[in-house]
Amino acid sequence: MLEIRSLRYQVPEEGGTTLGILNDVSLTIGDGSLVVVTGPNGGGKTTLAKAVMGLVTPTSGQILWNGTDVTHMSITERARQGISYGFQQPPRFKGLKVRDLLCLAAGREDLATEDACQYLTKVGLCAHDYIDREVDASLSGGEVKRIEIATILARNSGLMIFDEPEAGIDLWSFAKLTETFRAIHAKRKATLMIISHQERIIDLADEIVLIEDGKVARHGPKDEIFPLILERTSTGCTYLSQEVDKA
Ligand SMILES: Nc1ncnc2c1ncn2[C@@H]1O[C@H](COP(=O)(O)OP(=O)(O)OP(=O)(O)O)[C@@H](O)[C@H]1O
Ligand SMILES: [Mg+2]
Repeated sequence: MLEIRSLRYQVPEEGGTTLGILNDVSLTIGDGSLVVVTGPNGGGKTTLAKAVMGLVTPTSGQILWNGTDVTHMSITERARQGISYGFQQPPRFKGLKVRDLLCLAAGREDLATEDACQYLTKVGLCAHDYIDREVDASLSGGEVKRIEIATILARNSGLMIFDEPEAGIDLWSFAKLTETFRAIHAKRKATLMIISHQERIIDLADEIVLIEDGKVARHGPKDEIFPLILERTSTGCTYLSQEVDKA
């Protein structure tokens, strides 16, 4: 279970004031569930995910994974605890091949080509065309994004966080990816936290978390929250919490 307790992340602003990026976020995500985190641009979704992975140090609050307080652990320690995060904008690794990244992620130097290729297939990549490619600037944005998602799959972590996995991905690969998420979820062995604006990903969710202005504006079962979001977006409104409150 992932428990986020009263998490705050503040950054200094010019003039000595502070800007609250995460403002008292509390959230519990049950084992084996698929939770989609959505909300307006700049609401704090990526910052929240980075705080869970240890890429951002919160100002206050606690993060517990399976009862262990990971708030002050390094990224490597959290990875050992079974947390992984796929970046919204994945980095490139000049000099490393796709095969190397997958071996590192799986923690197996001897990862068979066939097994490595299987992860690429799950994200819609024609595995043999990519396995020996360098993860450098020669790869397109959608290719590097899918390779990053494949490495998260290879990690096989207990908590997998994907940050807008749909970004830059073509329709065919997206369909494959959606199926992959569905299959992982069906086994109920991993907890999935997927940051997304995509209706078809939201549709996979057990629960939806709406993050806005650095706060949890709404959190509940998909069937309860999704209609509110759809209604607000179809009428041209943002999914502001005050607007939802009036619904
Ligand atoms: N270190 C920082 N210093 C100043 N502002 C920051 C910092 N980190 C994040 N922000 C701001 O915090 C807000 C939340 O950013 P974040 O990337 O978490 O949003 P998001 O919900 O993921 O948005 P999107 O849907 O566009 O990906 C944004 O306004 C961003 O500019
Ligand atoms: Mg983001």
